[in-house]
Amino acid sequence: MGPKLIVGVYPGTFDPITLGHLDVIRRSLKMVNRLIIAVVRSNSKNTTFDSAERVRLIQDSLAEWGLDIEVASFDGLLVDFARARGAQVVFRGLRAVSDFEYEFQMALMNKKLAPEIEEVFLTPDQSYIYLSSSLVKEVASLGGDISAFVTPSVERALEAHFSLRDGK
Ligand code: COA
Repeated sequence: MGPKLIVGVYPGTFDPITLGHLDVIRRSLKMVNRLIIAVVRSNSKNTTFDSAERVRLIQDSLAEWGLDIEVASFDGLLVDFARARGAQVVFRGLRAVSDFEYEFQMALMNKKLAPEIEEVFLTPDQSYIYLSSSLVKEVASLGGDISAFVTPSVERALEAHFSLRDGK
């Protein structure tokens, strides 16, 4: 028997992807042979970008970082997607204590639904601890500089989104 192929999934809404997410992606890659970024098509979040745009922004951002990774979108349960893709591991970023309860609940539920899948939590680099997609959007909507938080393609997409909205 050859060495085991470890497949990981990194799920999220990614509305849009930030440098914090990319940091988690880069670190997850050290632990798996194959990583799939899984973009949830719809959840309770009212997203700024539709799922096709969120996927494209991830692909463009990965290309800017020189990474070649599969990006897929999914509906339904994360564990069903992970199983269908033969993944053994799900990665999540854990930024602050405030993330813990929500993540803990989801991890326990996922474990009940799919005991064979392991969830791995990574703490982002400390420069990204305070980052979130909503905060980045808020700063962008008010004309602030977001270049330290997102890739150039996401920066352009947010600028375009908010200048359309503001009729500029
Ligand atoms: N750096 C920067 N920001 C980060 C981050 C990191 N490393 N990790 C998370 N975030 C931020 C995101 O920007 C986002 O910010 P926002 O709330 O301001 O938009 C927030 O943390 C969490 O977003 P994200 O990582 O995209 O995940 P999510 O919580 O939106 O996604 C799913 C949750 C997709 C994993 C979950 O909805 C899911 O599994 N859905 C499928 C249905 C299912 O299986 N349900 C049962 C689950 S028990």
